[in-house]
Amino acid sequence: MTTTEISSLLQEHRRFDPPGPFAARAHVKSEAEYRAMAARAEADPDAFWAEQARALAWSHPWTKVCDWDPPDARWFVGGKLNVAVNCLDRHLGGARANQAAILFEGEPGDVRVLTYRMLHREVCRFANALLSLGVRAGDFVAIYLPMVPEAAIAMLACARIGAPHTVVFGGFSAEALADRLKDSRARVVITADGGWRRGQVVPLKASVDRALGMPDVDSVQHVVVVRRTNNEISMRPGRDHFWDDLVAAASPVHEARGHDSEHPLFSLYTSGTTGKPKGILHTTGGYLVGAAYTTRMVFDLRDGDVFWCTADIGWVTGHSYVVYGPLASGATILMYEGAPNQPGPDRFWEMVARWGVTILYTAPTAIRAFMRWGDEWPAKHDLSSLRLLGSVGEPINPEAWMWYRKVIGGDRCPIVDTWWQTETGSIMISPLPGATSTKPGSATRPLPGIAADVVRKDGTPCGPDEGGFLVVRRPWPSMLRTIFGDHERYVKTYFSEIAGCYFAGDGARKDADGYFWIMGRVDDVINVSGHRLSTMEVESALVSHPKVAEAAVVGRPDDLKGQAIVAFVTPRSGAAAGDALAAELRAHVAEQIGALARPEEIRFAEALPKTRSGKIMRRLLREVASGAQTRGDTTTLEDQAVLEKLAQSFATDE
Ligand code: WTA
Repeated sequence: MTTTEISSLLQEHRRFDPPGPFAARAHVKSEAEYRAMAARAEADPDAFWAEQARALAWSHPWTKVCDWDPPDARWFVGGKLNVAVNCLDRHLGGARANQAAILFEGEPGDVRVLTYRMLHREVCRFANALLSLGVRAGDFVAIYLPMVPEAAIAMLACARIGAPHTVVFGGFSAEALADRLKDSRARVVITADGGWRRGQVVPLKASVDRALGMPDVDSVQHVVVVRRTNNEISMRPGRDHFWDDLVAAASPVHEARGHDSEHPLFSLYTSGTTGKPKGILHTTGGYLVGAAYTTRMVFDLRDGDVFWCTADIGWVTGHSYVVYGPLASGATILMYEGAPNQPGPDRFWEMVARWGVTILYTAPTAIRAFMRWGDEWPAKHDLSSLRLLGSVGEPINPEAWMWYRKVIGGDRCPIVDTWWQTETGSIMISPLPGATSTKPGSATRPLPGIAADVVRKDGTPCGPDEGGFLVVRRPWPSMLRTIFGDHERYVKTYFSEIAGCYFAGDGARKDADGYFWIMGRVDDVINVSGHRLSTMEVESALVSHPKVAEAAVVGRPDDLKGQAIVAFVTPRSGAAAGDALAAELRAHVAEQIGALARPEEIRFAEALPKTRSGKIMRRLLREVASGAQTRGDTTTLEDQAVLEKLAQSFATDE
């Protein structure tokens, strides 16, 4: 965020109180109730979290709520539970058995509805199918699927048998998938022939085949293929199996056992400051307590809700608020496969009206796109079923917040702007919709039980409106436990920057009311359309191209995407800078990582500006990328004299 944007946020004085009728029925009904709850959690965190954990079904009780040996936490020590039983079996006793668990709509318009009873049967079948492939508790299973019900079924089946899953977003390339398979040592990959995106088939199985042919990808023994798009694919006998065939042969009965509270539930790869994505590891008990508690509190779930979180299951939001949180709470979820503007810009609003969605949870980047497409699209549809709106993934600018409230929420629905991360597992800072007055652009305050704060580098608290680092002072149940295979990196990344605290990597301020204003990342992570990427990851992709000598990647503010990727590239001698090379490099990055990482702009330079110790001056490049000098012209080299002059003026403070 630029300084002007920050100061305009600080001048934001609009406040919106929870609407009376909403508050009257909410789980937490007033500011006083919120304060009492937060005070109770503060006074005795263990008792508070034990109370939240008791909302789940445990097959064996815990002996200790939290074992905190900084920076290592264990939660509900000695307890056992099964995540799939909590999400399915325990809802089968009464009326909920025949309530819809998943309402699914594919991009072409095909529809499937699975009740809790049906979903339970499918999960049991697929759990048995995985067992028949030799998968055992502790074996990693990779999931590379479009947003179809099988994605949720696969996740829950893995959880049921204690095989941790690692979901890889379907938009990632074969190379990115290969990296994740190598790191997780997955034994099985679950994929589809393809998925639908803007009317095109995304050929997932073909990417799996390519990934499995890459060096050192040697752990995968079986590939399970969901038939979705019926495109031509190749099947290797013995290794590849169709989902349908496996489940046809599998029993719908599966006796689940409880898994240790600290048994790994999943790893999910996310970008950090280095080129290599890290496998964030979450465990069974604490994660589910966090997901269930926050779903109930933040979305104020009640019977009859139709909950639509538009995130893909490839991201943590899809884990916690498409699958685990809502299903553990017995909600009905809506799942949509495709693009928001297919076939037209009102696809979402048409779906809200058709399915009677009551809670919509989406990302600022989508909201800004809807704004740009025009008010006439939502105006065509009856959005009166909506009662609550949520935002996640990046800071939401007040203008988008106001538009969301007015045009989508009809000035009637509270907005919850939720701050959290892959690492935190569940929402950390957010309004409680029946209790918290909101200010456009602020995620407001930490949830009861979450000890978030804004501090200086030395760990001392910042004063009102003083910018600092966002930290969490106490462990919380759904915190990550480690980076898979690299505990040292876990300690270094999260618990070494600020003494005694979890360091989130975000900058923030707290205003005089104690409201948090998240200012974005303070590290080399960029947020493009709510997708987290590291600049180094994109740089490594660029320098792996034979015509690139050196590359530096920075983010610059973008009205639609939040941030856009700008790459400064020094071509190797003999390679001509220009549009042709720029196009080649953009395609190369898409192939190495995925289309989401494709640079918006490539700028060529004879040499990149460096400090005397040889470090690339990123701050300078950021300034050049976002400043008035932007020409958006890739045909010529940067004016080296200008870069050098700028470098001199930066040399002192870089
Ligand atoms: C950013 C997504 C401002 C933040 C759940 C964080 C946000 C990163 C918000 C995590 C928000 C997420 N306001 N910034 N409400 N929510 N972020 O791991 O920079 O994909 O560190 O998790 O997104 O991204 P991740």
